[in-house]
Amino acid sequence: MVGGGEGAYIGNIHRLASRLDGHWQLVAGAFDVDPDRGRAFAIGQGLDPARSYGTCQELIAGESGRADRVDAVAICTPNFTHYPIAKALIEAGFDVICEKPLTATLADAVALERLARESGRFVGVTYTYCGYPMVHEARVRIARGEIGAVRTVQVEYPLEWMAAPIERAGNAQAAWRTDPKKNGRGGSIGDIGTHAYHLAGFVTGLKLDSLTADLATFVNGRALDDNAHVMLRYQGGARGLLWSSQVAIGNSNGVRLRVFGETGSLQWFQEQPNELIFTPLDGRVQTLKRGADEMSVDAKARTRTPPGHPEGYLEAFANLYAGFAEAIRARRENRVPGPIGQNLPLAHDGLKGVAFVEAVVDSAEAADQPWITPVAV
Ligand code: NAI
Repeated sequence: MVGGGEGAYIGNIHRLASRLDGHWQLVAGAFDVDPDRGRAFAIGQGLDPARSYGTCQELIAGESGRADRVDAVAICTPNFTHYPIAKALIEAGFDVICEKPLTATLADAVALERLARESGRFVGVTYTYCGYPMVHEARVRIARGEIGAVRTVQVEYPLEWMAAPIERAGNAQAAWRTDPKKNGRGGSIGDIGTHAYHLAGFVTGLKLDSLTADLATFVNGRALDDNAHVMLRYQGGARGLLWSSQVAIGNSNGVRLRVFGETGSLQWFQEQPNELIFTPLDGRVQTLKRGADEMSVDAKARTRTPPGHPEGYLEAFANLYAGFAEAIRARRENRVPGPIGQNLPLAHDGLKGVAFVEAVVDSAEAADQPWITPVAV
């Protein structure tokens, strides 16, 4: 692992989730921007002091020479460091699991996606919400035609944690997220809008045609948007509406997806992740339950406990790690991956997210908020 040291947010989620199914072992790391703190943290995690590195460069040098070198490296650092770290790792022959957004700039995302493709290295991107079994269930049911052709998609990711200027009160996570050089051009839209955009496309299978956007910064002195409204036109005529907000008081993590088709609708809410609401035209509202016999192979492959025993965020994240492990093993064994190793978020999905942010900010900054087609869809 690179990043995710003492006091960091997402690194510990990666550590917990990667261990859940026994596919991964954490054996080496450069966990902190401060090398000494990183080494101390690694040793505190029980790692071999020889594999407790101060920097990513040390990790590459140390691991490259080992017979038991690491299989893959998870990148859990702020956005602007993803590209140089991923590039160095890929060029040294390591597979990579990278946090979203893939990079802070579009140029970096284009370069990284090309590098992933041309090198043949595995590059997974941790779009958390496509790890949930009931999100896969929705994807499968839409692909089967159970709600007919999709007409509209409503997707939202509201959070409340940045409703006050916490970046100026010592909050480390908010500090780099409000610095355009470290975060990238999109504030809420880059941080969480990318999750929502990926989720909508993943579940519906729709590709974007164009978008127009309205960005707002409600907290005085903040350099980036903390609220975004984006209208989406998909290829084939479907429409979408995406809302991301870091100032939506009352929302701890209110990811919500609603998809309306010609003959039915599906709704999923991440704070009730074990359920998917299916409503056929003129029919009864049905609550589909994770773990039930009728669920798809794809949902079952990502399910560990029977219905009624809730699964959630860590299990969804673990499903991504299990999927990445299966995809890497299948590639080595020259076979088709099992269901959990399919439909994974990869470098191209990361590029699409960054291209989406670029188009959103371009549209919002232009006087007439034009419809724009992202460079990758
Ligand atoms: P954070 O600020 O809490 O932690 C960043 C960590 O990286 C710190 O330990 C820091 O010392 C370390 N670091 C920084 N530069 C480094 C370098 N060059 N080498 C080694 N370590 C370095 O950040 P947070 O909130 O954990 O976010 C990290 C990444 O994860 C971001 O890209 C963010 O967008 C993403 N994220 C994804 C989530 C998801 O749901 N998939 C949720 C939260 C964050």
